[in-house]
Order: sequence, then structure tokens, then C-alpha cells
Amino acid sequence: MLKVLMFRTDLKRAIQEILMGHAVGLPTETVYGLAARIDQPDAIKSIFQLKQRPFFDPLIVHVNSIEQAKTLVSWWPPEAQTLAEQSWPGPLTLVLPKASHIDPMITSGLDSIAVRWPKHKDFQAVLDAVNVPLAAPSANKFGRTSPTTAEHVRKEFINDSVFVLDGGPCDVGIESTVVKISKAKKNQISILRKGHYSESELKDVLANHSVEFTNEVSTIESPGQMKHHYMPQVPLVIINSGKQITDLSSLIFKKVSQLPDEIEHIKINKLMRPPQNIAELKLSTDPRIAARQFYSELRRLSESGSECIVYFKSGSQLENNELWEALNDRMNKAASLVLND
Ligand code: TXA
Ligand code: MG
Repeated sequence: MLKVLMFRTDLKRAIQEILMGHAVGLPTETVYGLAARIDQPDAIKSIFQLKQRPFFDPLIVHVNSIEQAKTLVSWWPPEAQTLAEQSWPGPLTLVLPKASHIDPMITSGLDSIAVRWPKHKDFQAVLDAVNVPLAAPSANKFGRTSPTTAEHVRKEFINDSVFVLDGGPCDVGIESTVVKISKAKKNQISILRKGHYSESELKDVLANHSVEFTNEVSTIESPGQMKHHYMPQVPLVIINSGKQITDLSSLIFKKVSQLPDEIEHIKINKLMRPPQNIAELKLSTDPRIAARQFYSELRRLSESGSECIVYFKSGSQLENNELWEALNDRMNKAASLVLND
């Protein structure tokens, strides 16, 4: 308790709220999370309720050390040790067989658990003070744009009494890379969600291990990886070609009108008429900076009164160069429409 007294007032409040079993908005280096302690089922349940998240979508559990991560799993192979030593604290989540004491609500009944040691100092301070691992999905309503500032989280839960700790804008800007190490399929590593760490970087880290990377991931192994996710309040249209489009407004209206109202429980944004007020999303040509800007710019433009957002891909992003893969994945999921020619 003495340690808690030395913290900033807002940090102290966040710790107290978590200790009381409330869900709290906390900064991580990737995106803001909605965090609650894993040893209180009501706290975990409240995360799903606040986010309106279906119970089939499992949560990532955040820890403050490799030792604490090991208490959550039933198997900690040498590959996990190497990945954790090289990438933690940082934007990498490891999926491993779960320990039997883990509440199935956290893992959506799966026999695996997702674990991550985040890098943000404020999140780490809360973890150290509470000394219980914290489950934390991104702090947005289900399917919507992930938050990268405290203000985004406050707006997202404006009608709920959620305390949000302001730790500044997130540095990475998109969610962690999620990697599964399979015990049943020996030596197999699968990337369940692309992120800051690319496949080549992970292969380099594991160069001295005999592992095989696979992209064959079933929906059962990776629930929550829906076709659409991260969507802003107005349609986002990605233009995947360098060609000039003469009547963009009519084309967008026609194509968006043909879309279903909902895909995999996520509402698809529609248009009432050809959009008059189209906002252009502009991002850095550096993929790491573009990732930092993406969600924040999507939110800003969708709140600016425009009816639709367009983004023109160019250069190495158009070629899906590995450095752009994670951001391209988020863009395609956030888009109502992708125009290829
Ligand atoms: O960067 C991040 O990972 C952020 C910050 C807050 O840490 N968290 C985050 O959580 O993105 P969330 O809930 O938005 O996404 C977690 C995803 C799930 O949708 C699911 O696809 C995957 O992680 N996941 C969690 N547990 C899993 C498991 N046992 N097996 C397979 N996938 C799992
Ligand atoms: Mg999320």
C-alpha cells in the first residue's frame, strides 16, 4: 500500500478501481485496453458487457513478468521463452495451452490462453501494484475502431462510468501480433493476428529453434478474427489502384448499396445518397508512423461531418510489402468497400 501512495493521483485512482473489481481504461503501447483483474468473474463479465462483446471472443491476459506469464499456462516451451525474452515487454501476444485454474470466460472455453507483457509504464505500474494479471481487450465497442488516446476511450464509454487513465497517445497504434505455439502440432507456429512484429522478425528471433510457420488457421483456433472489425462510424472506402476514377461518389454509392447490412454480427455502414462530402484519409509513407496515425485519423474524419472516408493506397503499400501487412489487414477489415480497379 505504501507504494500506491507514491503514485500520481490518476494512477492511484486506476489502481483502486481495479482493486475494487471495476473495468478501467488503461494505456498500452499498442492501443488502449479495458482492463480488469482475472480473479474476479464479475469484473471479467463487465468487460464483455461494456464492450457488447460476444462471449465467443477470448481476452488477452496482461502480465508484468515472464514468471507471471508462466502461472497462466500449462506448457512453456523454449520457443515461448525466446520470444518473450526478445520481445517483451512489447507488442507480442503468445497463445499457449492454459493452466486449469483460468476462468473459461476469459478464454471463451478454449484450452489455450493469450498472454502479453505490455510496455507502457502506466500499465506496468498498475500491474505491479495490483499483482494480479489483468485481462484487457481493446477499449472500444465490439467491432469498432480501436482507441489510441484516453479521449477516444472516454467517448466510447460516455454512457458508462468507466475510469480512464490518460497515458498519452499510443506509440505503436495497432494491436499486438498474436502468435500461437501449438503443442499438439509439434514445432508449429501460427500468426493468428498480424501486428507490429512481422513474420520475418519472428523467424529471425527463432532462428536457433526448429519451427515451422503456418498460415493455416481455423476459426476455432482464432475466434474474434472477423472479416470486419475496427470500422469507423461512416463507410471507409479503400482504393487499391493508381487509376483515376471519374465519378467516385456515384461509384461508391452504387457499390456500398450492394453490401449486406451485417457481416458476422458487425453492422456495415451504408449511405443514403451519393456522398457529397468525401474526406480523404492521408497517412505517412512510413508504415510504422502510418500505423500510429491510422485509428486516430479514422475517428477524427468520421467525426468531422463527412459522409464517407476514402483512402488511396500507393507505392509499397499497394504491393503489400511485409512492413505494410499488419496495417493493410486492419484497413481491409475497417473498410466497407475495397475497390480494386
Ligand atoms: O495490443 C493488443 O493486443 C491489445 C492491447 C489492449 O493489449 N489488445 C487487444 O485485445 O487487441 P482484443 O480483445 O481486442 O483482441 C484479442 C484477440 C481476440 O479477438 C482473439 O482473436 C485473440 O486475441 N485471442 C485471445 N485469446 C485467444 C486464444 N486463446 N486463442 C486464439 N486467439 C485468441
Ligand atoms: Mg479489439
